[in-house]
Amino acid sequence: MDYQELMDKAIEAAKNSYSPYSKFAVGACLLTENGKTYSGCNFENSSFGLTICAERNAVGSAIADGERKIKAIAIYSPNQKHCYPCGACRQVLNEFKSDSGLDVITEGDTDLEIAPISFLLPEGFNL
Ligand code: THU
Repeated sequence: MDYQELMDKAIEAAKNSYSPYSKFAVGACLLTENGKTYSGCNFENSSFGLTICAERNAVGSAIADGERKIKAIAIYSPNQKHCYPCGACRQVLNEFKSDSGLDVITEGDTDLEIAPISFLLPEGFNL
């Protein structure tokens, strides 16, 4: 599974976004150490604070399937180039990074950008 394939799945997932309030669609697809992929999209609520981000939706599916080590996640929004994860999602991704780290992949005009979670969340909280 190369990173462009992962991004293609994130693009597909964004099509299922339920975002009638913000009109900001997001899709994500993550890759685990076991080579499995899990997609997610954001889904909003009329009680706005209940919104779930695409990244955490994908992480939840992976966890529910018994996966614990995430190697990479691609994130896509048709509304914005380089759609980076919010702070809450960075902390959640940090929890499940693989032993070799976790690459966050975003899409620009021409190429994919890869940023390690350790760069996006230095000194993340750990117990
Ligand atoms: N959103 C995500 O899905 N992921 C992020 O990392 C940031 C924000 C969603 C939440 C909401 O539905 C919309 O984008 C606008 O904030």
